[in-house]
Amino acid sequence: MTSLSDAIASTRMRLAAHGQEHVLRFIGELDGTRARALLAQCDALPLDLLAREMTAILGTAQSGMAEPSHTRIEAVDVIPAHPEGWVEYATAGEALLRAGKVACFTVAGGQGTRLGWDAPKGTFPASPITQRSLFQIFAEGIRGLRERFGAPLDWIVMTSPQNDVPTREFFQSHGSWGLAPGTVRFIVQGTMPALDRRGKILLSDRSELATNPDGHGGSIRALAESGELARLRGRGVEHLSYFQVDNPLVHPAEPLFLGLHATHPSSGGQMSSRSVSRRSAAEKVGVFCQRAGRVGIIEYSDMPPELAAAVLDDGRLLHGAGNIAVHALSLAFIEQLTQDGLALPFHVAHKKVPCLDSGGVLQAPSEPNGIKLETFIFDALPLADRPIVVDSRRDEWYAPIKNADGGDSPATSKAAQVARAARWLEACGVRAPRNGDGDVDAVIEVDPAVALSENDLRTALATGQARAPKQVNPGDRFVVA
Ligand code: UTP
Repeated sequence: MTSLSDAIASTRMRLAAHGQEHVLRFIGELDGTRARALLAQCDALPLDLLAREMTAILGTAQSGMAEPSHTRIEAVDVIPAHPEGWVEYATAGEALLRAGKVACFTVAGGQGTRLGWDAPKGTFPASPITQRSLFQIFAEGIRGLRERFGAPLDWIVMTSPQNDVPTREFFQSHGSWGLAPGTVRFIVQGTMPALDRRGKILLSDRSELATNPDGHGGSIRALAESGELARLRGRGVEHLSYFQVDNPLVHPAEPLFLGLHATHPSSGGQMSSRSVSRRSAAEKVGVFCQRAGRVGIIEYSDMPPELAAAVLDDGRLLHGAGNIAVHALSLAFIEQLTQDGLALPFHVAHKKVPCLDSGGVLQAPSEPNGIKLETFIFDALPLADRPIVVDSRRDEWYAPIKNADGGDSPATSKAAQVARAARWLEACGVRAPRNGDGDVDAVIEVDPAVALSENDLRTALATGQARAPKQVNPGDRFVVA
């Protein structure tokens, strides 16, 4: 083994060539093991890439333009969702599920800083009565789908190095909510070093660089590098149903969407997305659009204001399709991306990064002090052959838990879950009390294993698999199970 002093000298030289040698400023105080651990972290740094990204970031800051002005942005075609008329696609999706050609994929490696929950976000109690965690909601939904379609429906959960252990422990302590061992598998995403505003790498400890998970776009590489992609292939899986950990309304593997993705004539069958109508030009969701003829998503913050607000003759937003991070991806597409040496673009977030100051004291900043570099899964869309975007009812699909309070919070998400449960029950002939504003005057929860849609509920009630009263009274609280 190279002597420690030689190893330090060679790493220092490499770092110095990129102006990053300051990360070794405390190495003389470390014992051999910690010093070597720090050197290993430094030797794995993508220093050229960081330098390129910083040049781009500083250039953008100077010009004030995140989206190059010459990029032509056009509206995207959105396929309206008409489930009644599209039985053939739902049937095609069901056939994929039955044949074991679909696996669910949840990205759960985020830091969840806005929510401020001191554990992986998937462990957050999200349902209105039983306080089912987000993970439990998805697990039970998947269990119900497996039973309904006799489908293997593996579930892959992406974690980060920061939350992998507590996530696995949570699943273990709940027996994965009845999902058989080996049918839920975890993969760990990569990280990126956190930088200060000048692009200098930050330290979280004298022997450790400050890092953050590399974004949900890191899921593509994590699938390949973990060996999970090959394993799924070996199990006959052809498509992944991708969703985020923060949205309890999401359908983990909807037959109609999967069928449209795999068999609709407009679809290349590589990557498809569900969208919702944006509430307003100011709503903070990514926007589907076409750039240079390729479908993609622009972050709301990068959307030129006049385009964000542009309306059609009937008053609807021209760029009205908002991203809810629900995608279907073919394994063949992911394989192609990884074989081609995938390089999704980095996005910059200014965040509060706890880090050592020059004297080696850990500081918890009250204002954003650092830069986080992340890649996003939706940047794979322009690389896909004819991606389709399928419109969705927001109140059926999307009520994320992002913030501790205000919009997209546990309170708004629970209200949306109750509203959807009441709507499904009403559609099945059960009367639900509503106040003058039309809000449901009761708390209702549907066991996700029993129903993921109004139709499921109708069948479950008709076959006696679930029970509900004929009428819900004001103030009632009950779970349809
Ligand atoms: P968000 O963009 O909401 O980020 O993630 P976040 O890190 O969870 O939360 P904040 O911004 O710190 O409050 C959207 C989805 O992508 C996943 C998250 O777990 C969530 O399901 N994600 C995000 C990852 O899996 N890895 C990442 O590196 C980032």
